[in-house]
Amino acid sequence: MSNRILAIALAIFIASPAMAQDLTYIKAGRMVDVVDGQLRIDQTIVIRGDRIERVGSASGIDIPAGAQVIDLSNATVLPGLIDMHVHLTGDPETQGYANLAASVPRNALFGAANGRRTMNAGFTTVRNVGAGGYADVALRDAINNGDVVGPRMRVAAHSLGVTGGHCDNNFLPAEYGAKGGGVADGPWEVRKKVRENAKFGADLTKFCATGGVLSKGTSVGAQQYTLEEMAAIVSESHLRDRKVAAHAHGTEGIIAAIQAGVDSVEHASMIDAEGIRLAIVNDTFLVMDVYVSTYILEMGESAGFLPESLVKERLVGQVQRNNFRKAHEAGVRMAFGSDAGVYPHGNNARQFAYMVEYGMTPMEAIQAATVNAAELLGWPGDADLTRT
Ligand code: ARG
Repeated sequence: MSNRILAIALAIFIASPAMAQDLTYIKAGRMVDVVDGQLRIDQTIVIRGDRIERVGSASGIDIPAGAQVIDLSNATVLPGLIDMHVHLTGDPETQGYANLAASVPRNALFGAANGRRTMNAGFTTVRNVGAGGYADVALRDAINNGDVVGPRMRVAAHSLGVTGGHCDNNFLPAEYGAKGGGVADGPWEVRKKVRENAKFGADLTKFCATGGVLSKGTSVGAQQYTLEEMAAIVSESHLRDRKVAAHAHGTEGIIAAIQAGVDSVEHASMIDAEGIRLAIVNDTFLVMDVYVSTYILEMGESAGFLPESLVKERLVGQVQRNNFRKAHEAGVRMAFGSDAGVYPHGNNARQFAYMVEYGMTPMEAIQAATVNAAELLGWPGDADLTRT
């Protein structure tokens, strides 16, 4: 597993077409082994093409004369980090009503700049949980094609949501006909929306189980989809081998999403003891964005956040952090997710300090952003490699 994770980072940082088939050796003075949760001294990492072939003690791995060597003997080497909750095509400059003026192509181009920022910040894989007009699909494909620099992306395309819910667009009066691309009501409509997303390139499904902070006119704690609708979304997505991420702040919505079989609950702000118990029993990951509250409340209306959003943020922000601590202590599996896009891309790592403040060891926080996140992604087609 560690090789897979390291491969993600190094594939992107190191591989170039000219040396794709060659071996590269990295001398690591210290290496964070995220699988065993250890800091290892004097390691050598052997890379073939864009994959790590071997990792082991420097004394046990000979480096042939003339080989390509990257000497990080004086550094600590860390696998590429994974952020499971970002919106690369969303720009913090366009919050609230300003967002209405950004076209889909403009958002895709924001994404190109934000992808580079995210990569440069050490996040080499992201899960993009919602974008309009398939801008995220286009960005993923452009990155994979080498047109622009950015992290590996898994994308959700349109977030599914009920009419008037958190994943709809509620900013304009009826005569403008504004509607979120993922709006679908009832079991068959939601199945159709999952199929449509898949048809046009989505890798996973994201839906809004409850209201949210930044949407207009939604109650942050209120459940929006019924259990029946959530179960239909999950079954249709899993039929297509696609994981499901549920946005849920409110207690009942979190429980329903877990009962419906989602792979991860995003935010999980008001999770109670029953939600925590169910997450453990069902092996559900929580992806709790415990930094972003600080940014939203510091920036306030100057960043374009609606006054109602600030009221809602004050309701959930601290509660979410306290519940992060409880869920972690109880043993719920956690993956790192920041909601970058609400705040500037590239600052993703700010969340680590909050995860540690609310109960994780630094190693656990790093594991949430590496091995745990990789498990939640379910890396298709990536084999484990020899580890010495
Ligand atoms: N996108 C999320 C929403 O609008 C942001 C929530 C941020 N607040 C928090 N405490 N995590 O609901």
